[in-house]
Amino acid sequence: MTTPARHPPFPVLFSADQIRRRTHELARAIRRDAGELPPCLVVVIEGARTFARQLQQLLPGQPPLHEVRASSYAGTTSTGRVQLLVGAEVPCRDRDVLLLEDIVDTGRTIAALREHFLAAGARSCRVATLLSKPSRRVVEVPLDYIGFEIPDEFVLGFGMDLDGRYRELPDVVVYHAEIERAFLQQQAAAG
Ligand code: IMP
Repeated sequence: MTTPARHPPFPVLFSADQIRRRTHELARAIRRDAGELPPCLVVVIEGARTFARQLQQLLPGQPPLHEVRASSYAGTTSTGRVQLLVGAEVPCRDRDVLLLEDIVDTGRTIAALREHFLAAGARSCRVATLLSKPSRRVVEVPLDYIGFEIPDEFVLGFGMDLDGRYRELPDVVVYHAEIERAFLQQQAAAG
């Protein structure tokens, strides 16, 4: 007897193993570029948490992760407006901030966060992102560490979600509404 699939069979873009290997390479570059003090790590939640935790384990002393919330998406569409929720307690003054993002799409979120931390007195503000969609860029923003560049597809898994769904998938997969629909119909038919 086969175990029923728990998720729609979305095509895998990057396996958990590929991501782990690439994160090691990014961590090496970040360690090489770091000053005497470790960077102040700021993770854009929820989506970047999984990537940030993996990267944090590979940096000397495992610097704490400070969380900021930013939202610009409704479903699979960018709204063009970025809302930031940054705790006043992020110790960024005179520090080198490293923003950890899951995916840079239009660039608006990361541009707003860079502006925020530089205005709040950070000495520098770099960006490490697991994924980048260069063809979607509206705001040009320097990305210092990029895991993978991808085409204009909506991706899920490894912390990234669609309205709360599929965040727990270990791989990065490409969302297809018709694959999801067929899967849900099959499940409903199976009772
Ligand atoms: P930006 O401000 O347009 O660069 O959007 C960045 C944010 O949009 C990311 O942090 C994600 O939360 C979300 N996002 C953009 N593209 C995707 C995607 O393909 N899958 C999941 N979330 C995405």
